[in-house]
Amino acid sequence: MQRRKIIIDTDPGQDDAAAIMLAFASPEELEVLGLSAVAGNVPLSYTSRNVRIVCELCGRPDAPVYEGAQKPTVRPPVTAEHVHGRTGLDGAELPEPTMPVRDQHAVDFIIETLRSEPAGTVTLCTLGPLTNVALALQKAPDIAGRVKELVMMGGGFFEGGNITPAAEFNIFVDPEAAKTVFSSGMPIVMMPLDVTHQLLTTKARVEKIAALGTRPAQVLVDWLAFFERFDVEKYGSDGGPLHDPTVIAYLLKPELFSGRDCNVEIETQSELTVGMTVVDWWRVSGREPNAKVMRDVDADGFFALLTERVARL
Ligand code: BDR
Ligand code: CA
Repeated sequence: MQRRKIIIDTDPGQDDAAAIMLAFASPEELEVLGLSAVAGNVPLSYTSRNVRIVCELCGRPDAPVYEGAQKPTVRPPVTAEHVHGRTGLDGAELPEPTMPVRDQHAVDFIIETLRSEPAGTVTLCTLGPLTNVALALQKAPDIAGRVKELVMMGGGFFEGGNITPAAEFNIFVDPEAAKTVFSSGMPIVMMPLDVTHQLLTTKARVEKIAALGTRPAQVLVDWLAFFERFDVEKYGSDGGPLHDPTVIAYLLKPELFSGRDCNVEIETQSELTVGMTVVDWWRVSGREPNAKVMRDVDADGFFALLTERVARL
């Protein structure tokens, strides 16, 4: 199998960290060309730090890390310390990272990489607000035609929103960026809340990760314990939903997921529903599909994959 070249754009976040771990644990399938930090769950100074903490935890201090946008394209920042804690990675005590951030801006890294690699070979994996990708598209519209696929965690449709009744966090933070991306013509795969809410970090699943007995596994368990407390209270479920690793899991085992090609438009005007992903699941609008929207997942298969891969770190 040819290794898939990926860029991970991210705002860690404990679930972002789980996604990055899954990617680094899968070097036979995935080549991580670089990681770009974006403001989201917490400000950029923390997300940049957190990306590097995860790289070092995975034994990859050599991974190129870039800093991107400090705020959404047009709106003031919205953060989620109430979910992820003050640092975005609360839950485990880890040393401050020593690996450097690269000098280049993340937006220029994305553009340069897409232009220098053969067209149709680089996959963008977005785990946070779409600000960096939208800024790259605004600066270099030609990159839309060079992306193999953009696989993103964001949005929700039958499941509704998680930061407002209508909007999911990543889209809500920068709806204008999401609109730019969804109208760019890039091939998009969307992992909405409809999928991620099926992936609960139940006691039984987390115990299997803990049983691996390695340091990365224990850190992940500690992060998940912190991260799930907010959602457990909110949803009353056994465990919280694990969002961002769906993006990487899709690259490794697409057969775990099912969905359909749909048109997706982003609401940017309405005060009540700003950030809503209007998914034409029933194809009633006549608008052309612009994304592969996932709706279902084999949850046990997903956790088996995550556990088996984390064991390799
Ligand atoms: C998304 O928002 C963030 O809090 C998570 O990291 C995930 O990317 C879920 O709505
Ligand atoms: Ca995230």
